[in-house]
Amino acid sequence: MGVLRIGFLNLFIYFCCVFLYSVPNVSGQNNMCFNCTDLIDCRASKHYLKYGYKEDKGKVVPRKPGDASDPLMDKCLDDGYTIKETLKGTVCSGSSDGFCHAIGEATTNFSISYTHCGNCYIECDCYNQENGNDRREGPIILTMFLAAFYTLI
Ligand SMILES: *[C@@H]1O[C@H](CO)[C@@H](O)[C@H](O)[C@H]1NC(C)=O
Ligand SMILES: *[C@@H]1O[C@H](CO)[C@@H](O)[C@H](O)[C@H]1NC(C)=O
Repeated sequence: MGVLRIGFLNLFIYFCCVFLYSVPNVSGQNNMCFNCTDLIDCRASKHYLKYGYKEDKGKVVPRKPGDASDPLMDKCLDDGYTIKETLKGTVCSGSSDGFCHAIGEATTNFSISYTHCGNCYIECDCYNQENGNDRREGPIILTMFLAAFYTLI
């Protein structure tokens, strides 16, 4: 029982964090750079770019001179790139910080945010990167979340 209670406390903290870390994007198209707790230590090359949905292919484009830069979205993209349309699915991207990021249509819906983060957790192979690392909560929280989610529905 003790273990279960700690589990739910973590889950609660996790819910809070995902909301806090979800930063809305203010410019142009209605996309959002998700600040996913599961991706914090997950590395990706600066040029890494993976479309989760084939209709989104080609929406990440080099920024033209004169296009306004968007600091919130720049956190999630390679230098000098921008997104020209609202995305239908997830885009996983590297950026100059060397980590994997999740981008998708702006939302306040937790389960959608969580899906974007989870897609990139898989695409960027974050689980395997955690070998030899002392950070282990990611996959555990992921499993707990899925368990709790399926219990709720
Ligand atoms: C994103 O999460 C990191 C790690 O907790 C935090 O340091 C950073 O301030 C967050 N960024 C935003 C814009 O909330
Ligand atoms: C969030 O998105 C899921 C999946 O699309 C949907 O089933 C659910 O009703 C949405 N929740 C809210 C509060 O909009």
